[in-house]
Amino acid sequence: MPGALQRPAVVPRVSDLIGYTPLLELAATETGSRLLLKLEMFNPTGTAKIRMARAMVDAAEASGDLRAGGRIIESTSGNTGLGLSVIAAERGYTFTAVVDNHAAPDKLRAMKALGTELVYVVDDGGAEELATAAREELAEDMARGHDNTIFTEQHNNPANGVGYFPVAHELTEALGGDIGVLIGAVGTGGGLCGTGRELAKLISGFTVIGVEPKGSIAFGGPAHDYYQSGTGTPEGAGIGALVDFDLIDEGVKVGDVEAFATCRAVARTGLLIGGSAGGVVHEALTRLPSLPPGTTMVALINDGGEKYMDTVFNDDWMSERDLLSPETEREVDELLTKLRRNRYTAC
Ligand SMILES: Cc1ncc(COP(=O)(O)O)c(C=O)c1O
Repeated sequence: MPGALQRPAVVPRVSDLIGYTPLLELAATETGSRLLLKLEMFNPTGTAKIRMARAMVDAAEASGDLRAGGRIIESTSGNTGLGLSVIAAERGYTFTAVVDNHAAPDKLRAMKALGTELVYVVDDGGAEELATAAREELAEDMARGHDNTIFTEQHNNPANGVGYFPVAHELTEALGGDIGVLIGAVGTGGGLCGTGRELAKLISGFTVIGVEPKGSIAFGGPAHDYYQSGTGTPEGAGIGALVDFDLIDEGVKVGDVEAFATCRAVARTGLLIGGSAGGVVHEALTRLPSLPPGTTMVALINDGGEKYMDTVFNDDWMSERDLLSPETEREVDELLTKLRRNRYTAC
């Protein structure tokens, strides 16, 4: 018999495969602190975001705003769009994704394969520019005045946070109350804050650390372009309603160079993680040695590295943007090698 939070052996729908993602002990200290990665790439679509995609559609169905044959519209850099593509295909809705050229081409191709209509914002501002504000305006315009058509508006949709409540339950089922630090990327804030809010109902005494790219504006500092995909709040975009500053004990910023060097170093342990996760893991590894002895730190890994073969894992793309730093990679490699010796989960 599977436990309360284990998947049945056979399921009828792709969305039944959401959740129950595994934990991997990446590193540990001699004092018994450990870094566990919650590997959300094990969800269908290879990302955490399908959790909130399902929750947003569930909420729209429950309110009656979305009914049989309806249309869903969302502004997305890719991962939310992938999740909505699956849910729409499964439930017979039309899904239109408003995208810009910043999204990874593979994500866009996958959305198309799932039957999604892609609409590109025209005032894209350049080949790879984030166009979050323009995307959202267009998505809202397209939905306005149409019956049985919803703009899911992930940055302001409470169901985004609700979609991650199960993560908290999965963590406590696996670890009990043994969670000292929860760390994760902050874009809309749904993933980290939804998990953190629910976790606070189940256990106490843990710290929440939010990570955004340098250049993103939620945690202050100068605004500039960044290449960590899907995460952060670029200049010109409003900070999402789900970014809960009361819940986040510390908001930190990690640069693209450090984030991507970490992805590349972690890959050499056998695990491919995406760019935003690289930022999270960089921050987590740096902090791990100074945590109180015996602390368990859980890092939310939003997606896997397979989606970033043309960017983070492409030397030419990295060099052309001054992002390749063998020295930073070596530093992360050394830290990882040192901390991996202490792991105590039996291999
Ligand atoms: C790869 C990746 N990392 C991080 C995030 C940020 O997650 P959230 O929007 O839940 O804050 C996203 C969101 O789309 C993402 O796609």
